[in-house]
This record gives sequence, structure tokens and C-alpha cells, in this order.
Amino acid sequence: MSVIVFGSINMDLVARTPRIPVPGETLIGHSFETVPGGKGANQAVAVARLEIPTALIGRVGGDAFGETLLNGLVSSGVDCQGVLIDRTTHSGVAIITVDDASENNIVIVPGANGHVDATDVDRLPAILSGAKVLLLQLEVPLPAVVAAAKVAKQAGLTVILDPAPARSDLPDQLYPLVDIITPNQVETSQLVGFEVSDLTTAQQAAQTLHQRGVGTVITKLGKAGALCMTATETFEIPVFPVKAVDTVAAGDAFNGGLAAGLAAGLDLRPATRQAAAVAALSVTKAGAQPSLPTRSELDDFLRSV
Ligand code: RIB
Repeated sequence: MSVIVFGSINMDLVARTPRIPVPGETLIGHSFETVPGGKGANQAVAVARLEIPTALIGRVGGDAFGETLLNGLVSSGVDCQGVLIDRTTHSGVAIITVDDASENNIVIVPGANGHVDATDVDRLPAILSGAKVLLLQLEVPLPAVVAAAKVAKQAGLTVILDPAPARSDLPDQLYPLVDIITPNQVETSQLVGFEVSDLTTAQQAAQTLHQRGVGTVITKLGKAGALCMTATETFEIPVFPVKAVDTVAAGDAFNGGLAAGLAAGLDLRPATRQAAAVAALSVTKAGAQPSLPTRSELDDFLRSV
């Protein structure tokens, strides 16, 4: 395996609505769909669609969603031998509202993802041989995330942490285990405890995260692109302008594109460019996993810009 993803698997229950309802309001939606998602699963699919060998470690529940999710992952080319069917609970679900302006909000009920623990990390060493990158997010319990990062770091993998969903309580011991962290603006603000709203504050936040021990900080700034700060250089990652239909999983697409690029031997700059292109393509289509581009779609897009 070149890339191992340790993380969540969800069924997304997606309602399209004219706008995001306010508290206490009932709205009539335009449509409803169930779509495979979950940050871990999305990132694994993003990498696998770019034809990089990918394995996922996580859990689904012993329900119909679990079966559908596993089948979808396998047919996207993700090795799911490390995915446990946890019959004590339901599969993770994300209840998503997407409005006419392509804005969304998401409620997650973790189910099986919430049961991920050290026993799941025990499945990691068996697939480490040949692996280059471990991708982590925060939709499974933190102790398991830290334990997985430790195992991968000791084995010499590049550890990428997408600190999503946002939280402010990451343990100090996690930061030095992370080679690359990829927060968006909200997540960065939560991590550092001050508002990140532009390139200047993003730079200050990246310095704070460096001081905590992270190697490289890539701060995603939405339409303003991203800022990458390593120990030796700082550069901006421009966005590819596209017409956005649905931004769900854009962050996952970015992380998948980055991990795939690094696993394929790209240097950081071209890998971040690939990440931005995969993210751009993902927002042109609806849904989480259905929006993630294939290698040939990515190559065609990069030739056209
Ligand atoms: O990042 C997008 C994902 O967040 C969705 O697929 C949903 O499952 C939530 O986990």
C-alpha cells in the first residue's frame, strides 16, 4: 500500500434546500439522496481514484448502510481488509443540508466510527510495508488518532493530519507526530485560539503550529487558495477557478490529492498544486465520493488550465 487512511466512514443523508433553515424552522427541500461519505472514506477514495494503492482502516456498523459503504469503497479500488464490521452499533451517518448557494451544514452521528480504538490501530502494522503516507482526520476518537500517528511516524511514513471537524483540544503529543497539517480557516482558528481571516493571520497561525512541533502547515483559505509554510519556505497555493455546485468533501479531495502526489514521489509544491486541482474538480459535482475525480479526469483538467 502506498497510502493508508485511518478514519471515518459515513453514509451521507443529503437534503437540498433553497437555503439553510434557521433554528425552529421547517423548510420544504428540493431533493434527498443517500451518498457514501465520511472524511476517512472520502480521502481513501480520492487517493484510489488517482490510481495510488490505498488501504482504509476504520469501522462500519452491521447494517445495510455498512454493506453499501463497503461495496462502494471496494469498487473504487480501496483495500478494505482493515475495515471492521462492528455489529454492536449502526454505521456513521452525516445529515447534510446543501442550499441553492452551495453552502452546507452537517450533523454527524458517529455510530461505528465512535468505537474506533487501539484494537483498530493494531491492524496498521500488517499493512505498513511499502506505505509512504498515513492520512488522518478527527472523526474517530482522538486516542486512536494519536496511536495511529505514533505507529506510522515510527515506521517512517509521512503523517498528514486533516484536523476536521474543528476542535481546540488536540493533545500536545500529537503535533510532533504530524509532518503536514491541513486545516481550513475555522479549524486553524480553533487550533490556535485566535481568528484566522487572511494571509497574515494564517502565517501567524502556521508559526504557532510549527512551535508546537508540526513540520509543514497548509492552511486552506477557501476561495483565497491556501498558504503552505514549511520550516524553510512559505508559498501560496492558488485555487483553480471553477463553478461550484457542492463543496462537500472539497477538503477531503485536497488531502487525497496531496497524499497521492507525495506517495507518487512529487515534491511538496507540485503535490499541493495537484491537491488544489482535485479539490476544484470535486466542487463541480454533487455529493462526497461521487464528486472525486479519476486520474484521467485530473490529467485532462490540468492539461486544460
Ligand atoms: O468532509 C465531508 C464529509 O464530512 C461528508 O462526507 C460527511 O460524511 C462528513 O463526514
